[in-house]
Amino acid sequence: MLDEVKNQLLTQVGAGTPMGGLLRRYWMPIAAVSEFDDKSIKPVRLLGENLTLYKDLSGTYGLVDRHCPHRRADLAYGFVEQCGIRCNYHGWLFDQEGRCTEQPYEDVAQPQANFKDKIRITSYPVQAKAGLIWAYLGPEPAPLVPDWEPFTWKNGFVEIVFAEVPCNWFQCQENSIDPLHFEWMHMNWSVRLKDQVGPYSPRHLRIEFEEFDYGFVYRRLREGMSESDPMWTTGRVCLWPNTLFTGDHFEWRVPIDDENTLSVTWAFTRVPKEREPYVQGAIPAWHGPVRDAGKDGWISSHIMNQDFVAWVGQGVVADRTKEHLGSSDRGIILQRQRFLSDLEAIARGEDPKAIIRDPAVNRSVPLPVAERKLLVDGLTQAELLKHPILGHHYAGDYVFQAGRPAEVAAAFKEAMGI
Ligand code: FES
Ligand SMILES: [Fe+2]
Repeated sequence: MLDEVKNQLLTQVGAGTPMGGLLRRYWMPIAAVSEFDDKSIKPVRLLGENLTLYKDLSGTYGLVDRHCPHRRADLAYGFVEQCGIRCNYHGWLFDQEGRCTEQPYEDVAQPQANFKDKIRITSYPVQAKAGLIWAYLGPEPAPLVPDWEPFTWKNGFVEIVFAEVPCNWFQCQENSIDPLHFEWMHMNWSVRLKDQVGPYSPRHLRIEFEEFDYGFVYRRLREGMSESDPMWTTGRVCLWPNTLFTGDHFEWRVPIDDENTLSVTWAFTRVPKEREPYVQGAIPAWHGPVRDAGKDGWISSHIMNQDFVAWVGQGVVADRTKEHLGSSDRGIILQRQRFLSDLEAIARGEDPKAIIRDPAVNRSVPLPVAERKLLVDGLTQAELLKHPILGHHYAGDYVFQAGRPAEVAAAFKEAMGI
């Protein structure tokens, strides 16, 4: 249980709030590179700020205020030019540093006034990596966009999946350090959703949590499992500060504002050995629905949709003054304590956890990966089909989220040779 003050402290993300300050010290994935194949501007709401993400005709990305500083027109309806974004109302032009580089009428009528030099629009650094576009809203100097090891793996089909989840980000991230829910939410509930009464999943017997440089590892031992099982020897990763990393996919919980979260998944599926060498062209991206169009409720057919059901079910902002934590929640407590001590570190002028600034460190940064050998070296089609986890990812429909478009499914099957 948390008191109301701490609950607000951990959940509020706006500018000027402590956690808003902490989260602004990390790069956040906000869009996919391939989204800009057929458009050049995307309105973005991030950490409670309304912004305009664009790619200009020279290929430079910019992230600027949503509203033009002239008379507040919506820059998401502007248009890009060779260098920068132009407001569609009176034509003021801005570059990615937020400078106003043209004011067409003022430049003619009063050139000596240099009015444009007095105008500066909010702008934030943007970088593309791993098919994602990342934004940094924090103080300079910005750290590096992490070069996580899977971003450098070969012979994989990667897709990026978004969903907007109408609740606070922190309850989404608490799911990243909650091994027990796997048994109930994903295994046993799925059995009952199919109207079967069993058999239920093997039960968790032990769970352990360990902190490391980039987050926490959680390990599980379930009935029938040996202690040499990679789920017990390696486990899964709650990646700092807002991510679940399961070895072949990342799930970022990106705060849109206090009441909404952008779920961003980067999923790697290793092609079978028979399909090597495989070099992916563009990384496809798609948005999945969260509400069940036919019914009055949430989609529950896919793994992450099930997670979404839990998150939104906890309330827009979970009321942690009313919870009752047990021994299964040790990771939840560790994560809260770490965030609270990181807030103190920031107040002392230090970096919070897992900030990477050294380029020598930021090269294919290794993370705990239970199936690393299989994901890097690959398996044959026959071996993949027999694998209890990777087999589903390889041969089935996309298991994590509902709504994969037909063209992405076709590209996936082509890559896998299915
Ligand atoms: S409101 Fe943007 S140029 Fe006038
Ligand atoms: Fe889950």
